[in-house]
Amino acid sequence: MTELPSYENDRDFELPTPGPSLGKAPRKAPNETTLKAQQTTTLSPRFYTTNFDELDKLSIEPVRAEWDAMIAEFAADKNLGHFKRNAEWSFDPNTLPPALRQEFLDFLVSSLTAEFSGCVLYAEAKKRGLNRDLCTLFKYMARDEARHAGFINDCLQDFKVDVDLGFLVKAKKYTFFSPKFILYATYLSEKIGYARYITIFRHLEANPDKRFHPIFKWFKEWCNDEFRHGEALALMMRANPTLLTGLNRLWIRFFQVAVFATMFVRDHSRPEMHHAMGLDPEQYGLKVFGITSEICKQVFPVLVDVESPRFLELLRELLQLSRGIEAARTGGVWGRVKTLALQARTVLVMGQLLLLPTRSNDLPQTTRMSPAW
Ligand SMILES: [Fe+2]
Ligand SMILES: [Fe+2]
Repeated sequence: MTELPSYENDRDFELPTPGPSLGKAPRKAPNETTLKAQQTTTLSPRFYTTNFDELDKLSIEPVRAEWDAMIAEFAADKNLGHFKRNAEWSFDPNTLPPALRQEFLDFLVSSLTAEFSGCVLYAEAKKRGLNRDLCTLFKYMARDEARHAGFINDCLQDFKVDVDLGFLVKAKKYTFFSPKFILYATYLSEKIGYARYITIFRHLEANPDKRFHPIFKWFKEWCNDEFRHGEALALMMRANPTLLTGLNRLWIRFFQVAVFATMFVRDHSRPEMHHAMGLDPEQYGLKVFGITSEICKQVFPVLVDVESPRFLELLRELLQLSRGIEAARTGGVWGRVKTLALQARTVLVMGQLLLLPTRSNDLPQTTRMSPAW
């Protein structure tokens, strides 16, 4: 089992402090998988830091009743014990064809990095905070993400690889987001994480012959954790309504477009994995966007129209541009010129996505939703 902070007895965690104040990286050289997780690219999961003092000032008083009910759910910890490999776990990595094996490993490492990114951010917010409500929440969320990351690292052992999480905390680059951007981005990432995992789970439940790895059996309870994390972030935004009005509506649009576009392009880079599951990445993407958008009605006053044919056309164009950029990388000077042109076109297409007509949404009286998909 990978060593991660233990939260089982409600003890405090001791994750190293992220950010430039960190000490030297460990002397042991990181392995190849760790170095891959450390890379920062447009599509790879990032580590985030923020103004923790400002974040700590958010009050949740206007949503107190819903908040307390949610914290009670976190405390009940239904998934304690879920993230362990049991008798149902049976897997021989040699059964996977090489291309599928490579893509699946890439998926695991990327998922682990995303899980651990959440863990580091929430643990840091807990460590630096004084706001009792938020500290309690962040403690539980870091607990869950640590379990998720640890479980994936366990799965990687079958492939004889692992990611050195201690090294990542120290060596990976941190992206600074203001607290409100952290809320928009992490809310969307938790909810889209739920939508992705539940869509895969339901699909493989109906097509068990396509379940090429046992980890997918764990996705249902797993995504309920992510759903709950999203609920918490939604409540934080609903309790501070200025985050949802005025110019912030534009930012909310921007983050929806950015998250959907990133997922669309990233998933298309794993054709073997989707083929093995019997999923068409485009259809799968649209289904996930539909679920995510439906959930976002609990908090966002403006929603990207994910059913618009133009939305899909522009996503397809982004995908072609991304493939073009990838292909041009090895093309020397001419390749660099081509890359610049394609990047400029990408900015333009992103702009077009942002300018598409949106749906305005009247927020419901109460925020909480059930993971009913
Ligand atoms: Fe997670
Ligand atoms: Fe999460």
